Amino acid sequence: MTNIAVFASGTGSNARCLADYFAHSSCARVRLIVSNKPDAPVLSIARERHIPTHVIDRISFYESEQLLTVLNEYKIGFIALAGFLWLVPPYLVRTYWQRMVNIHPALLPAYGGKGMYGMRVHEAVKAAGERETGITIHYVNERYDEGDIIFQARCYISSEDSPEEIARKVQALEHEHYPKVLERLICPKTELRL
Ligand code: GRF
Repeated sequence: MTNIAVFASGTGSNARCLADYFAHSSCARVRLIVSNKPDAPVLSIARERHIPTHVIDRISFYESEQLLTVLNEYKIGFIALAGFLWLVPPYLVRTYWQRMVNIHPALLPAYGGKGMYGMRVHEAVKAAGERETGITIHYVNERYDEGDIIFQARCYISSEDSPEEIARKVQALEHEHYPKVLERLICPKTELRL
């Protein structure tokens, strides 16, 4: 059984999907939710599901390696970032090399990088008059949104779509694909659940 830690700081809709999907898996489960915000809604999602939580502060995250002790305690084998906005420090990238992924709400390398998150991404996509957008799941390295791409899915945008409508389409893709792509990475022998 591979224990997954989900790092999230926002509403946690992807964290919820991952937790619920892997609740039925014999190969992996969401064992810990890590957040940098003590009041993030994702923590309530974790508590409702009896998943332990860990709140980190900036100093211990960047100036110590204490988080590794916590991840060891829960025997975490894989990390999924889902709306975690802090740049991941080198000690964590190294320890979880090729075992840490992120989901980004656009088709990288476009619309990525520092400051490109949430509605800013969808507003930029709309402003550029794009006819399609999508999601990217990629490995995490020491730079924002630059790790090797594992998977992308696309959706069509009409010229009438507002940034909010674009966000809804992208979120639907995220919820559909993130759990399955993680399952393929972590449990390669598992039959794909359709
Ligand atoms: C998602 O759009 C994801 O792509 C990005 O952060 C957002 C998190 O949303 N990295 P949620 O908190 O899972 O609803």
